[in-house]
Amino acid sequence: MSAIYPADIQPVAEPGTGFVAKGDSVSRIDGRAKVTGQACYVAEHVTPDMAHGVVVNSTIAKGRITALHLDEARAVPGVLAILSHLHRPRTRRLDLFYKDMTAPGGSPFKPFHSEGVLYSGQPVALVLAETFETARYAASLVRVSYEEDSHQTSLLTNLYRSHEPSRLKAGYSPPPKPTGDAEAAFEAAPVKIQGDFYHGVEHHNPLEMHASTVIRSEDGHLTIYDKTQSSQNSRWVVSQVFGLGKDKVTVKNPFIGGAFGSGLRPQYQLILAVMGALELKRSVRVVLTRQQMFTFGHRPETWQRLKLAADSDGTLKSVMHEAIAETSRIEDYVEVVVNWSGQMYHCDNVKLDYSLVALDHYTPMDMRAPGAAHGMHALEVGMDELSYALGMDPLALRLKNYAERDAAKDLPFSTKELRACYEQGAERFGWDKRPLAPRSMKEGTELIGWGMASGQWDAMQMLAKARAVLHADGRLEVSSAASDIGTGTYTVMSLIAAAAMGLPLEQVIFKLGDSTLPFAPIEGGSSHVTTVGSAVEGVCEKLQKKLWKLAKAMPDSPFEITRFSEVEFANGGMQLIKMPNTAVPLTAILAHAGQASIEEKYLMLPNALKQKNYVRAVHSAVFCEVRVDEDFGTVRVTRVVSAIAAGQIMSAKTARSQIVGGVVWGISQALHEETHADHGLGRFMNHNLSEYHVAVNADIHDIDVIFVEEDDRIVSRLGAKGVGEIGLVGVAAAVSNAVYHATGRRVRSTPMTPDKVMAPG
Ligand code: MOS
Repeated sequence: MSAIYPADIQPVAEPGTGFVAKGDSVSRIDGRAKVTGQACYVAEHVTPDMAHGVVVNSTIAKGRITALHLDEARAVPGVLAILSHLHRPRTRRLDLFYKDMTAPGGSPFKPFHSEGVLYSGQPVALVLAETFETARYAASLVRVSYEEDSHQTSLLTNLYRSHEPSRLKAGYSPPPKPTGDAEAAFEAAPVKIQGDFYHGVEHHNPLEMHASTVIRSEDGHLTIYDKTQSSQNSRWVVSQVFGLGKDKVTVKNPFIGGAFGSGLRPQYQLILAVMGALELKRSVRVVLTRQQMFTFGHRPETWQRLKLAADSDGTLKSVMHEAIAETSRIEDYVEVVVNWSGQMYHCDNVKLDYSLVALDHYTPMDMRAPGAAHGMHALEVGMDELSYALGMDPLALRLKNYAERDAAKDLPFSTKELRACYEQGAERFGWDKRPLAPRSMKEGTELIGWGMASGQWDAMQMLAKARAVLHADGRLEVSSAASDIGTGTYTVMSLIAAAAMGLPLEQVIFKLGDSTLPFAPIEGGSSHVTTVGSAVEGVCEKLQKKLWKLAKAMPDSPFEITRFSEVEFANGGMQLIKMPNTAVPLTAILAHAGQASIEEKYLMLPNALKQKNYVRAVHSAVFCEVRVDEDFGTVRVTRVVSAIAAGQIMSAKTARSQIVGGVVWGISQALHEETHADHGLGRFMNHNLSEYHVAVNADIHDIDVIFVEEDDRIVSRLGAKGVGEIGLVGVAAAVSNAVYHATGRRVRSTPMTPDKVMAPG
C-alpha cells in the first residue's frame, strides 16, 4: 500500500493518570494530540501520488444541464480528468435506499446521476488535477449551460401544499392520534393562548470541512479517510455504490472536527472522491470549501402553530400543536417536532399534526436534537405565555402539569428526575427572587429578564460489538468501530474499561474510527455511551470471568472456591470483595497461565422486551438571564443554569462539556443562526462564516451545569442515558422567555435579532 503521511496516532491518557471510577472527571485523552496538531483530520492525510478533486456546483436551482464546456479547463497543465454525469466510472447502483445500515433511512441524493438539477449548489462536475491549486483554477473555467425550470424555495409561500410524510426513516414516530377533544376544550377553557412560530434554516458548520481522502494501494484496495459519524456506514455505502467487496474498502475516521449530524449520512464528496480514485487508478482527495458546506443538508425551515388552554388554576385543558416543515423533491426528510407536546405535560385533550412541503433545496438533515430544537421551542415559549395569561409563575405552571407518565403511549418513563432538575436549577439560579411582572428589572440602559424552559430528548440504545485484549504486561486494548466527533468517545470508553478492569487509565487503549473493527452504529442520537459503552463494559465482564477462571486454577489459589460474584477488580488486580487484601495482579494471572494475552468479544443487544414497556428520555430544566439594550435591541445572555437528568454520568468533565456546548449552540440558535435564501435564485446567500452568524466567545458568559442524580438500568446496564443533544433543547426557549420578561415583547421566531426584539407589540 502507498505510504500514508502522517501515521494515525492512538490517544492514551497521560502517564500517571492512575485508577478511575465511573463518573470521574478526567481531561479528554485526545486533547493533547488535538491541540498540538498530531491528530490528523481527513484532509491532512497525504500520499506521494495523490491527485486532488475540486467540485463544480450548479448555479440554478432546477432544470437540466444541456452542455458542459470543458475545453478551457482541460487545457490547464496538470488537469487529469473531469468527471460528471456524462463521464464517470461505472457504479453498481446510485439509487441507494438506506434501510439496512444505521444511517438515517431514505433515498439520498445521487451525485452525477443524470443531467437533472434538483437544487442550487448541486455538484455537476469534479475536476481532478495534480495539485489542489490546479484543480481549483481549472474548476473556475468550467462553463455549464442549463435549461432552467421554475423553482420553489420558500416554505412560507408554499404552506398550502403540505403533504403527509412518507415514513422512511427508522425510528421516526408520526404524531400520535388525538386524545379527548382538544378543539372543544380550547373553546371552553377560561385562559388560552395561541401563536405562530417560525424557524429559519440553520447549517451545521462544523469546524472541519467535509472531505474524503481515498488512498489506493497497488492492488486496488481503497483506504478512505472520511468525515463521517460512522466509518462502517461509509464503507457500506462505497461497497454498495461501486460494487466493491468489504475486503476492498476500509474507511477510517479516527479524528473528526465536529459534525452535529452532518456526518450521519455519507456526503457527496465521498462518492466523488471514490469515483476519482477509480477513474485515475490513484489516490484522490476531495475537500469541500466552507461555501460548499452549504450545499448539502441543513436544519429544516419550520412553521408551527401552537394553541394552549388552561383552567384558571393552571390545569392544562387543551394542547394543539401543528408543524409544517420543508423537505426536498428528492425524498421526505422527517423529524419528531410536535410529539413532545403530548409527552411533556399532562393534558387530556391533545391534537398534534406534522406535515411537509417539498422545496427545490437539498434534503434537510439531522442537526443536534433534530425536531426537538424547534418543537420544544414552540411548546416552551407557549407555556411561558400561558403562565403570564394565568398570572402564574412559569415554573409553578410546569410543576402543576408535570407528566408522571407518557399519556399518548400510556407508558411510564424508565426514569424521570425532571422535578429534581426544576428544584436544583431554580435554587442555583435564584429563581425564587424573580419578580413576576415583565420590565421590572433594569440596570443602566439594560433591561434584565429571567426565563426558564424544560427540555426532553430520547434516551436510545442500539446494538454494538466490542473486542478486548488484555496483554501480559497489563495493557488493555478495547476496540469497536465507534466514532468520536469531538464528544469524548475515546475518553469515556477508556474510562468505562479502566473502571471495569481496575486498571490505571493510561494502561487502556480504546480503538475506534476504523471500519474493520467490531460493529458499532453511527455516533448519533446521543446513544454512543448507552450502546458502545455497554458493549465495552460487557466485554470487560467476559474478560473478568476468564481471569477469575485462570486465577482459580493457579497453584494454592485463594480464589479456588470463590464464586465470580465474590471477586472484584481494582488496583490492577482481582481481589475478594470481603477481604481486599486477598488479591492477585492481573499480570500475575496471565503469567501463571503462560499467556501472552487473553481476548474476548461481546455483542451488546438492547433488552427490547424490557425497554418497550417504558418511555426512555433525558430531561432538562434551563434557567437564563438576559440583558437587553432597549435602544439597540441587542440581547446578551449573561447567565445560564442547565440542570440535566441523564442517568448516571460516566465521564463528568466530557459530559459537562457536551452540555456547555449544547447551551452555547442554544444561545446561537436563539440569537444568531439563520441561512437566508434568495428565492429568486433559489440559493442560500450567506454561505460563509462572516455572514452566517454563530455565537462567539464574546456572546458566551456564565454557564452552570447540574447533573441531578438518576440511575437508569432500563436504558443501559451502565445506568447511563446520553448527553449529546439534551444540552441544546430548551435553551432558545429560555432565552426567548427571558427576553419577554425583560422587555414585554414576545418573539416567536429564531434567531431573535435586534429588529425582532425592537418590533412593536
Ligand atoms: Mo446527531 S443530529 O444525533 O448526529
